[in-house]
Amino acid sequence: MVCLARSEGLEDYYDLDRTDLWSISDEADEFSQLMDFLRTLPFAATGRMLIMYDPDGRAVTAHRDHDSIDLCHEFVWLRTNLEKPFYMLDPATGEKLYVGGYSARFDTVNQYHGADATGELAWSIRVDGRFTDEFRAMMPAAAENPASRAALWAQSAGIKA
Ligand SMILES: [Fe+2]
Repeated sequence: MVCLARSEGLEDYYDLDRTDLWSISDEADEFSQLMDFLRTLPFAATGRMLIMYDPDGRAVTAHRDHDSIDLCHEFVWLRTNLEKPFYMLDPATGEKLYVGGYSARFDTVNQYHGADATGELAWSIRVDGRFTDEFRAMMPAAAENPASRAALWAQSAGIKA
């Protein structure tokens, strides 16, 4: 992991979007062009920002990030090439929906996600924070299961496995 932002609190997955806790790290200086780009994303404020990489491109076991359906993290997942086979998994059927583009937002609670092995350097970037009101307004609200908002958005946009 390369931490582009660090929290002043203890590491807590539930703090990813507590943007007041996070500040840009010293490591971010090494990625100035990336940081310039990340500032163009539709965030009112950013929290955790990470580059995740594996020089050996090992598989990432399908998982959920947390189990609170009341917590919907606002984030963008990014990559600079299409080589990491990153997917959402329906655990009931085993069906995988692979991300086809350079960015994604997904439901990290109700959906499983993972990556297939490539055997070669694989990386991705994730930026958490608070979306701008304009960007959030594009996504239908999910009153009963707020964490499913991204999945609901994908469904309303007609994205299917
Ligand atoms: Fe994850």
